[in-house]
Amino acid sequence: MSCLNGTDCKEPLKRRVALGVLGLMLAIFLLLSVWSFMGSRPQAIPDAVHYDNYDAVAGKRVFQAFNCMGCHTIVGNGAYFGPDLTKTYQHVGPAWLAAFLPSAGGWPTAAAVQVQLQNAAVQQEVGVTDMADYQARYPGAHERITRRGGHPTLMPNLPLDADEVASLMAFLKYTSEMNNEGWPPKPKVDGLTVLQARYGAPVASTLSNEASAAVLPVSVSTDPAMLGEKLVQDLGCLACHAKNEKKIVGPGWGGLYGSQATLTDGSTVEVDDDYLIKAMRTPDVQVVFGYPPGLMPSYDALINEHDMNAILAYLHSLQGDEK
Ligand code: HEC
Ligand code: HEC
Repeated sequence: MSCLNGTDCKEPLKRRVALGVLGLMLAIFLLLSVWSFMGSRPQAIPDAVHYDNYDAVAGKRVFQAFNCMGCHTIVGNGAYFGPDLTKTYQHVGPAWLAAFLPSAGGWPTAAAVQVQLQNAAVQQEVGVTDMADYQARYPGAHERITRRGGHPTLMPNLPLDADEVASLMAFLKYTSEMNNEGWPPKPKVDGLTVLQARYGAPVASTLSNEASAAVLPVSVSTDPAMLGEKLVQDLGCLACHAKNEKKIVGPGWGGLYGSQATLTDGSTVEVDDDYLIKAMRTPDVQVVFGYPPGLMPSYDALINEHDMNAILAYLHSLQGDEK
């Protein structure tokens, strides 16, 4: 082969340059290929994420069984009736979630979250026991408690038992740990401001018109039953209990005092003060028939004797529907 007019066309040199460039491209290609498999996106593995003894995979099954996706999104999948839940665990922390999930019809009050903070599993996750520390660590919980605590929500109460709640928390912990590179850009909770504005009144006043009277400090200081009525509101009991015989999450209180309670083991017990105190301090010792154990939190550390007497006086005052 010869070049034009017999000039030297430097063929060996050109061939070497071409092969050299090809080799360089190949090296870059291989390097980038290897790099794309390396740890630029560390990912959480669902099997490895636990909350207490519950794993994220079991939680995903509960999430599906209750069709949470019918109202919520996780990384953009699902429906938009409720807020996106991908990072909820990270924003509100386990104590807030443990208070919210079993009685989702009402936003948890500070006391309701504090009760959950005493739970061993929650403490293991967050490492703090003080409510102020907890709220500083989880600003989402602080924001929800102060702006909406005690108000009704648009989410229905779902019949979740204690195992299902803990599993869901494992699942939401997993989604929270997923590396989704900053998605969603903003948590979609903005609509809540509008909803809160619409619900001016606390939960209690949707149940009774007289309940709002209990907020007045003057009468509260004199009448124990009125103090009791205010306490059950502040402690968040009304997210689960109605003052009449209606079931919300737990049994209604109307006509409860002096009646016979049927327990899960089939036995019946007279509802006296002793029974009621046990129901609040050690709820899992006597569980009412038809309800799962573990849902009603223990208020042992939160209710002193004076407050307990006030709550008892209030419960005594509630009549059944028939009367
Ligand atoms: C019928 C629709 C519906 C279903 C089903 C539903 N939710 Fe909700 N959920 C909502 C709505 C609506 C809100 C917001 C409440 C409000 O703004 O009043 C909400 C709020 C929440 C919140 C609080 C979010 C936040 O940012 O404060 C969590 C957590 C939650 N839901 C979890 C669940 C889980 C877990 C399930 C399934 C077990 C579930 N939801 C099923 C409608 C639903
Ligand atoms: C997360 C929901 C929830 C909250 C909050 C809650 N309870 Fe309960 N409560 C239940 C459930 C569920 C039961 C039935 C199962 C059981 O006996 O543990 C129950 C049972 C009871 C009983 C026994 C009722 C009966 O029919 O024998 C009393 C009394 C009671 N609760 C009082 C309270 C008081 C007072 C508060 C607030 C200081 C409170 N509960 C907060 C869910 C709740």
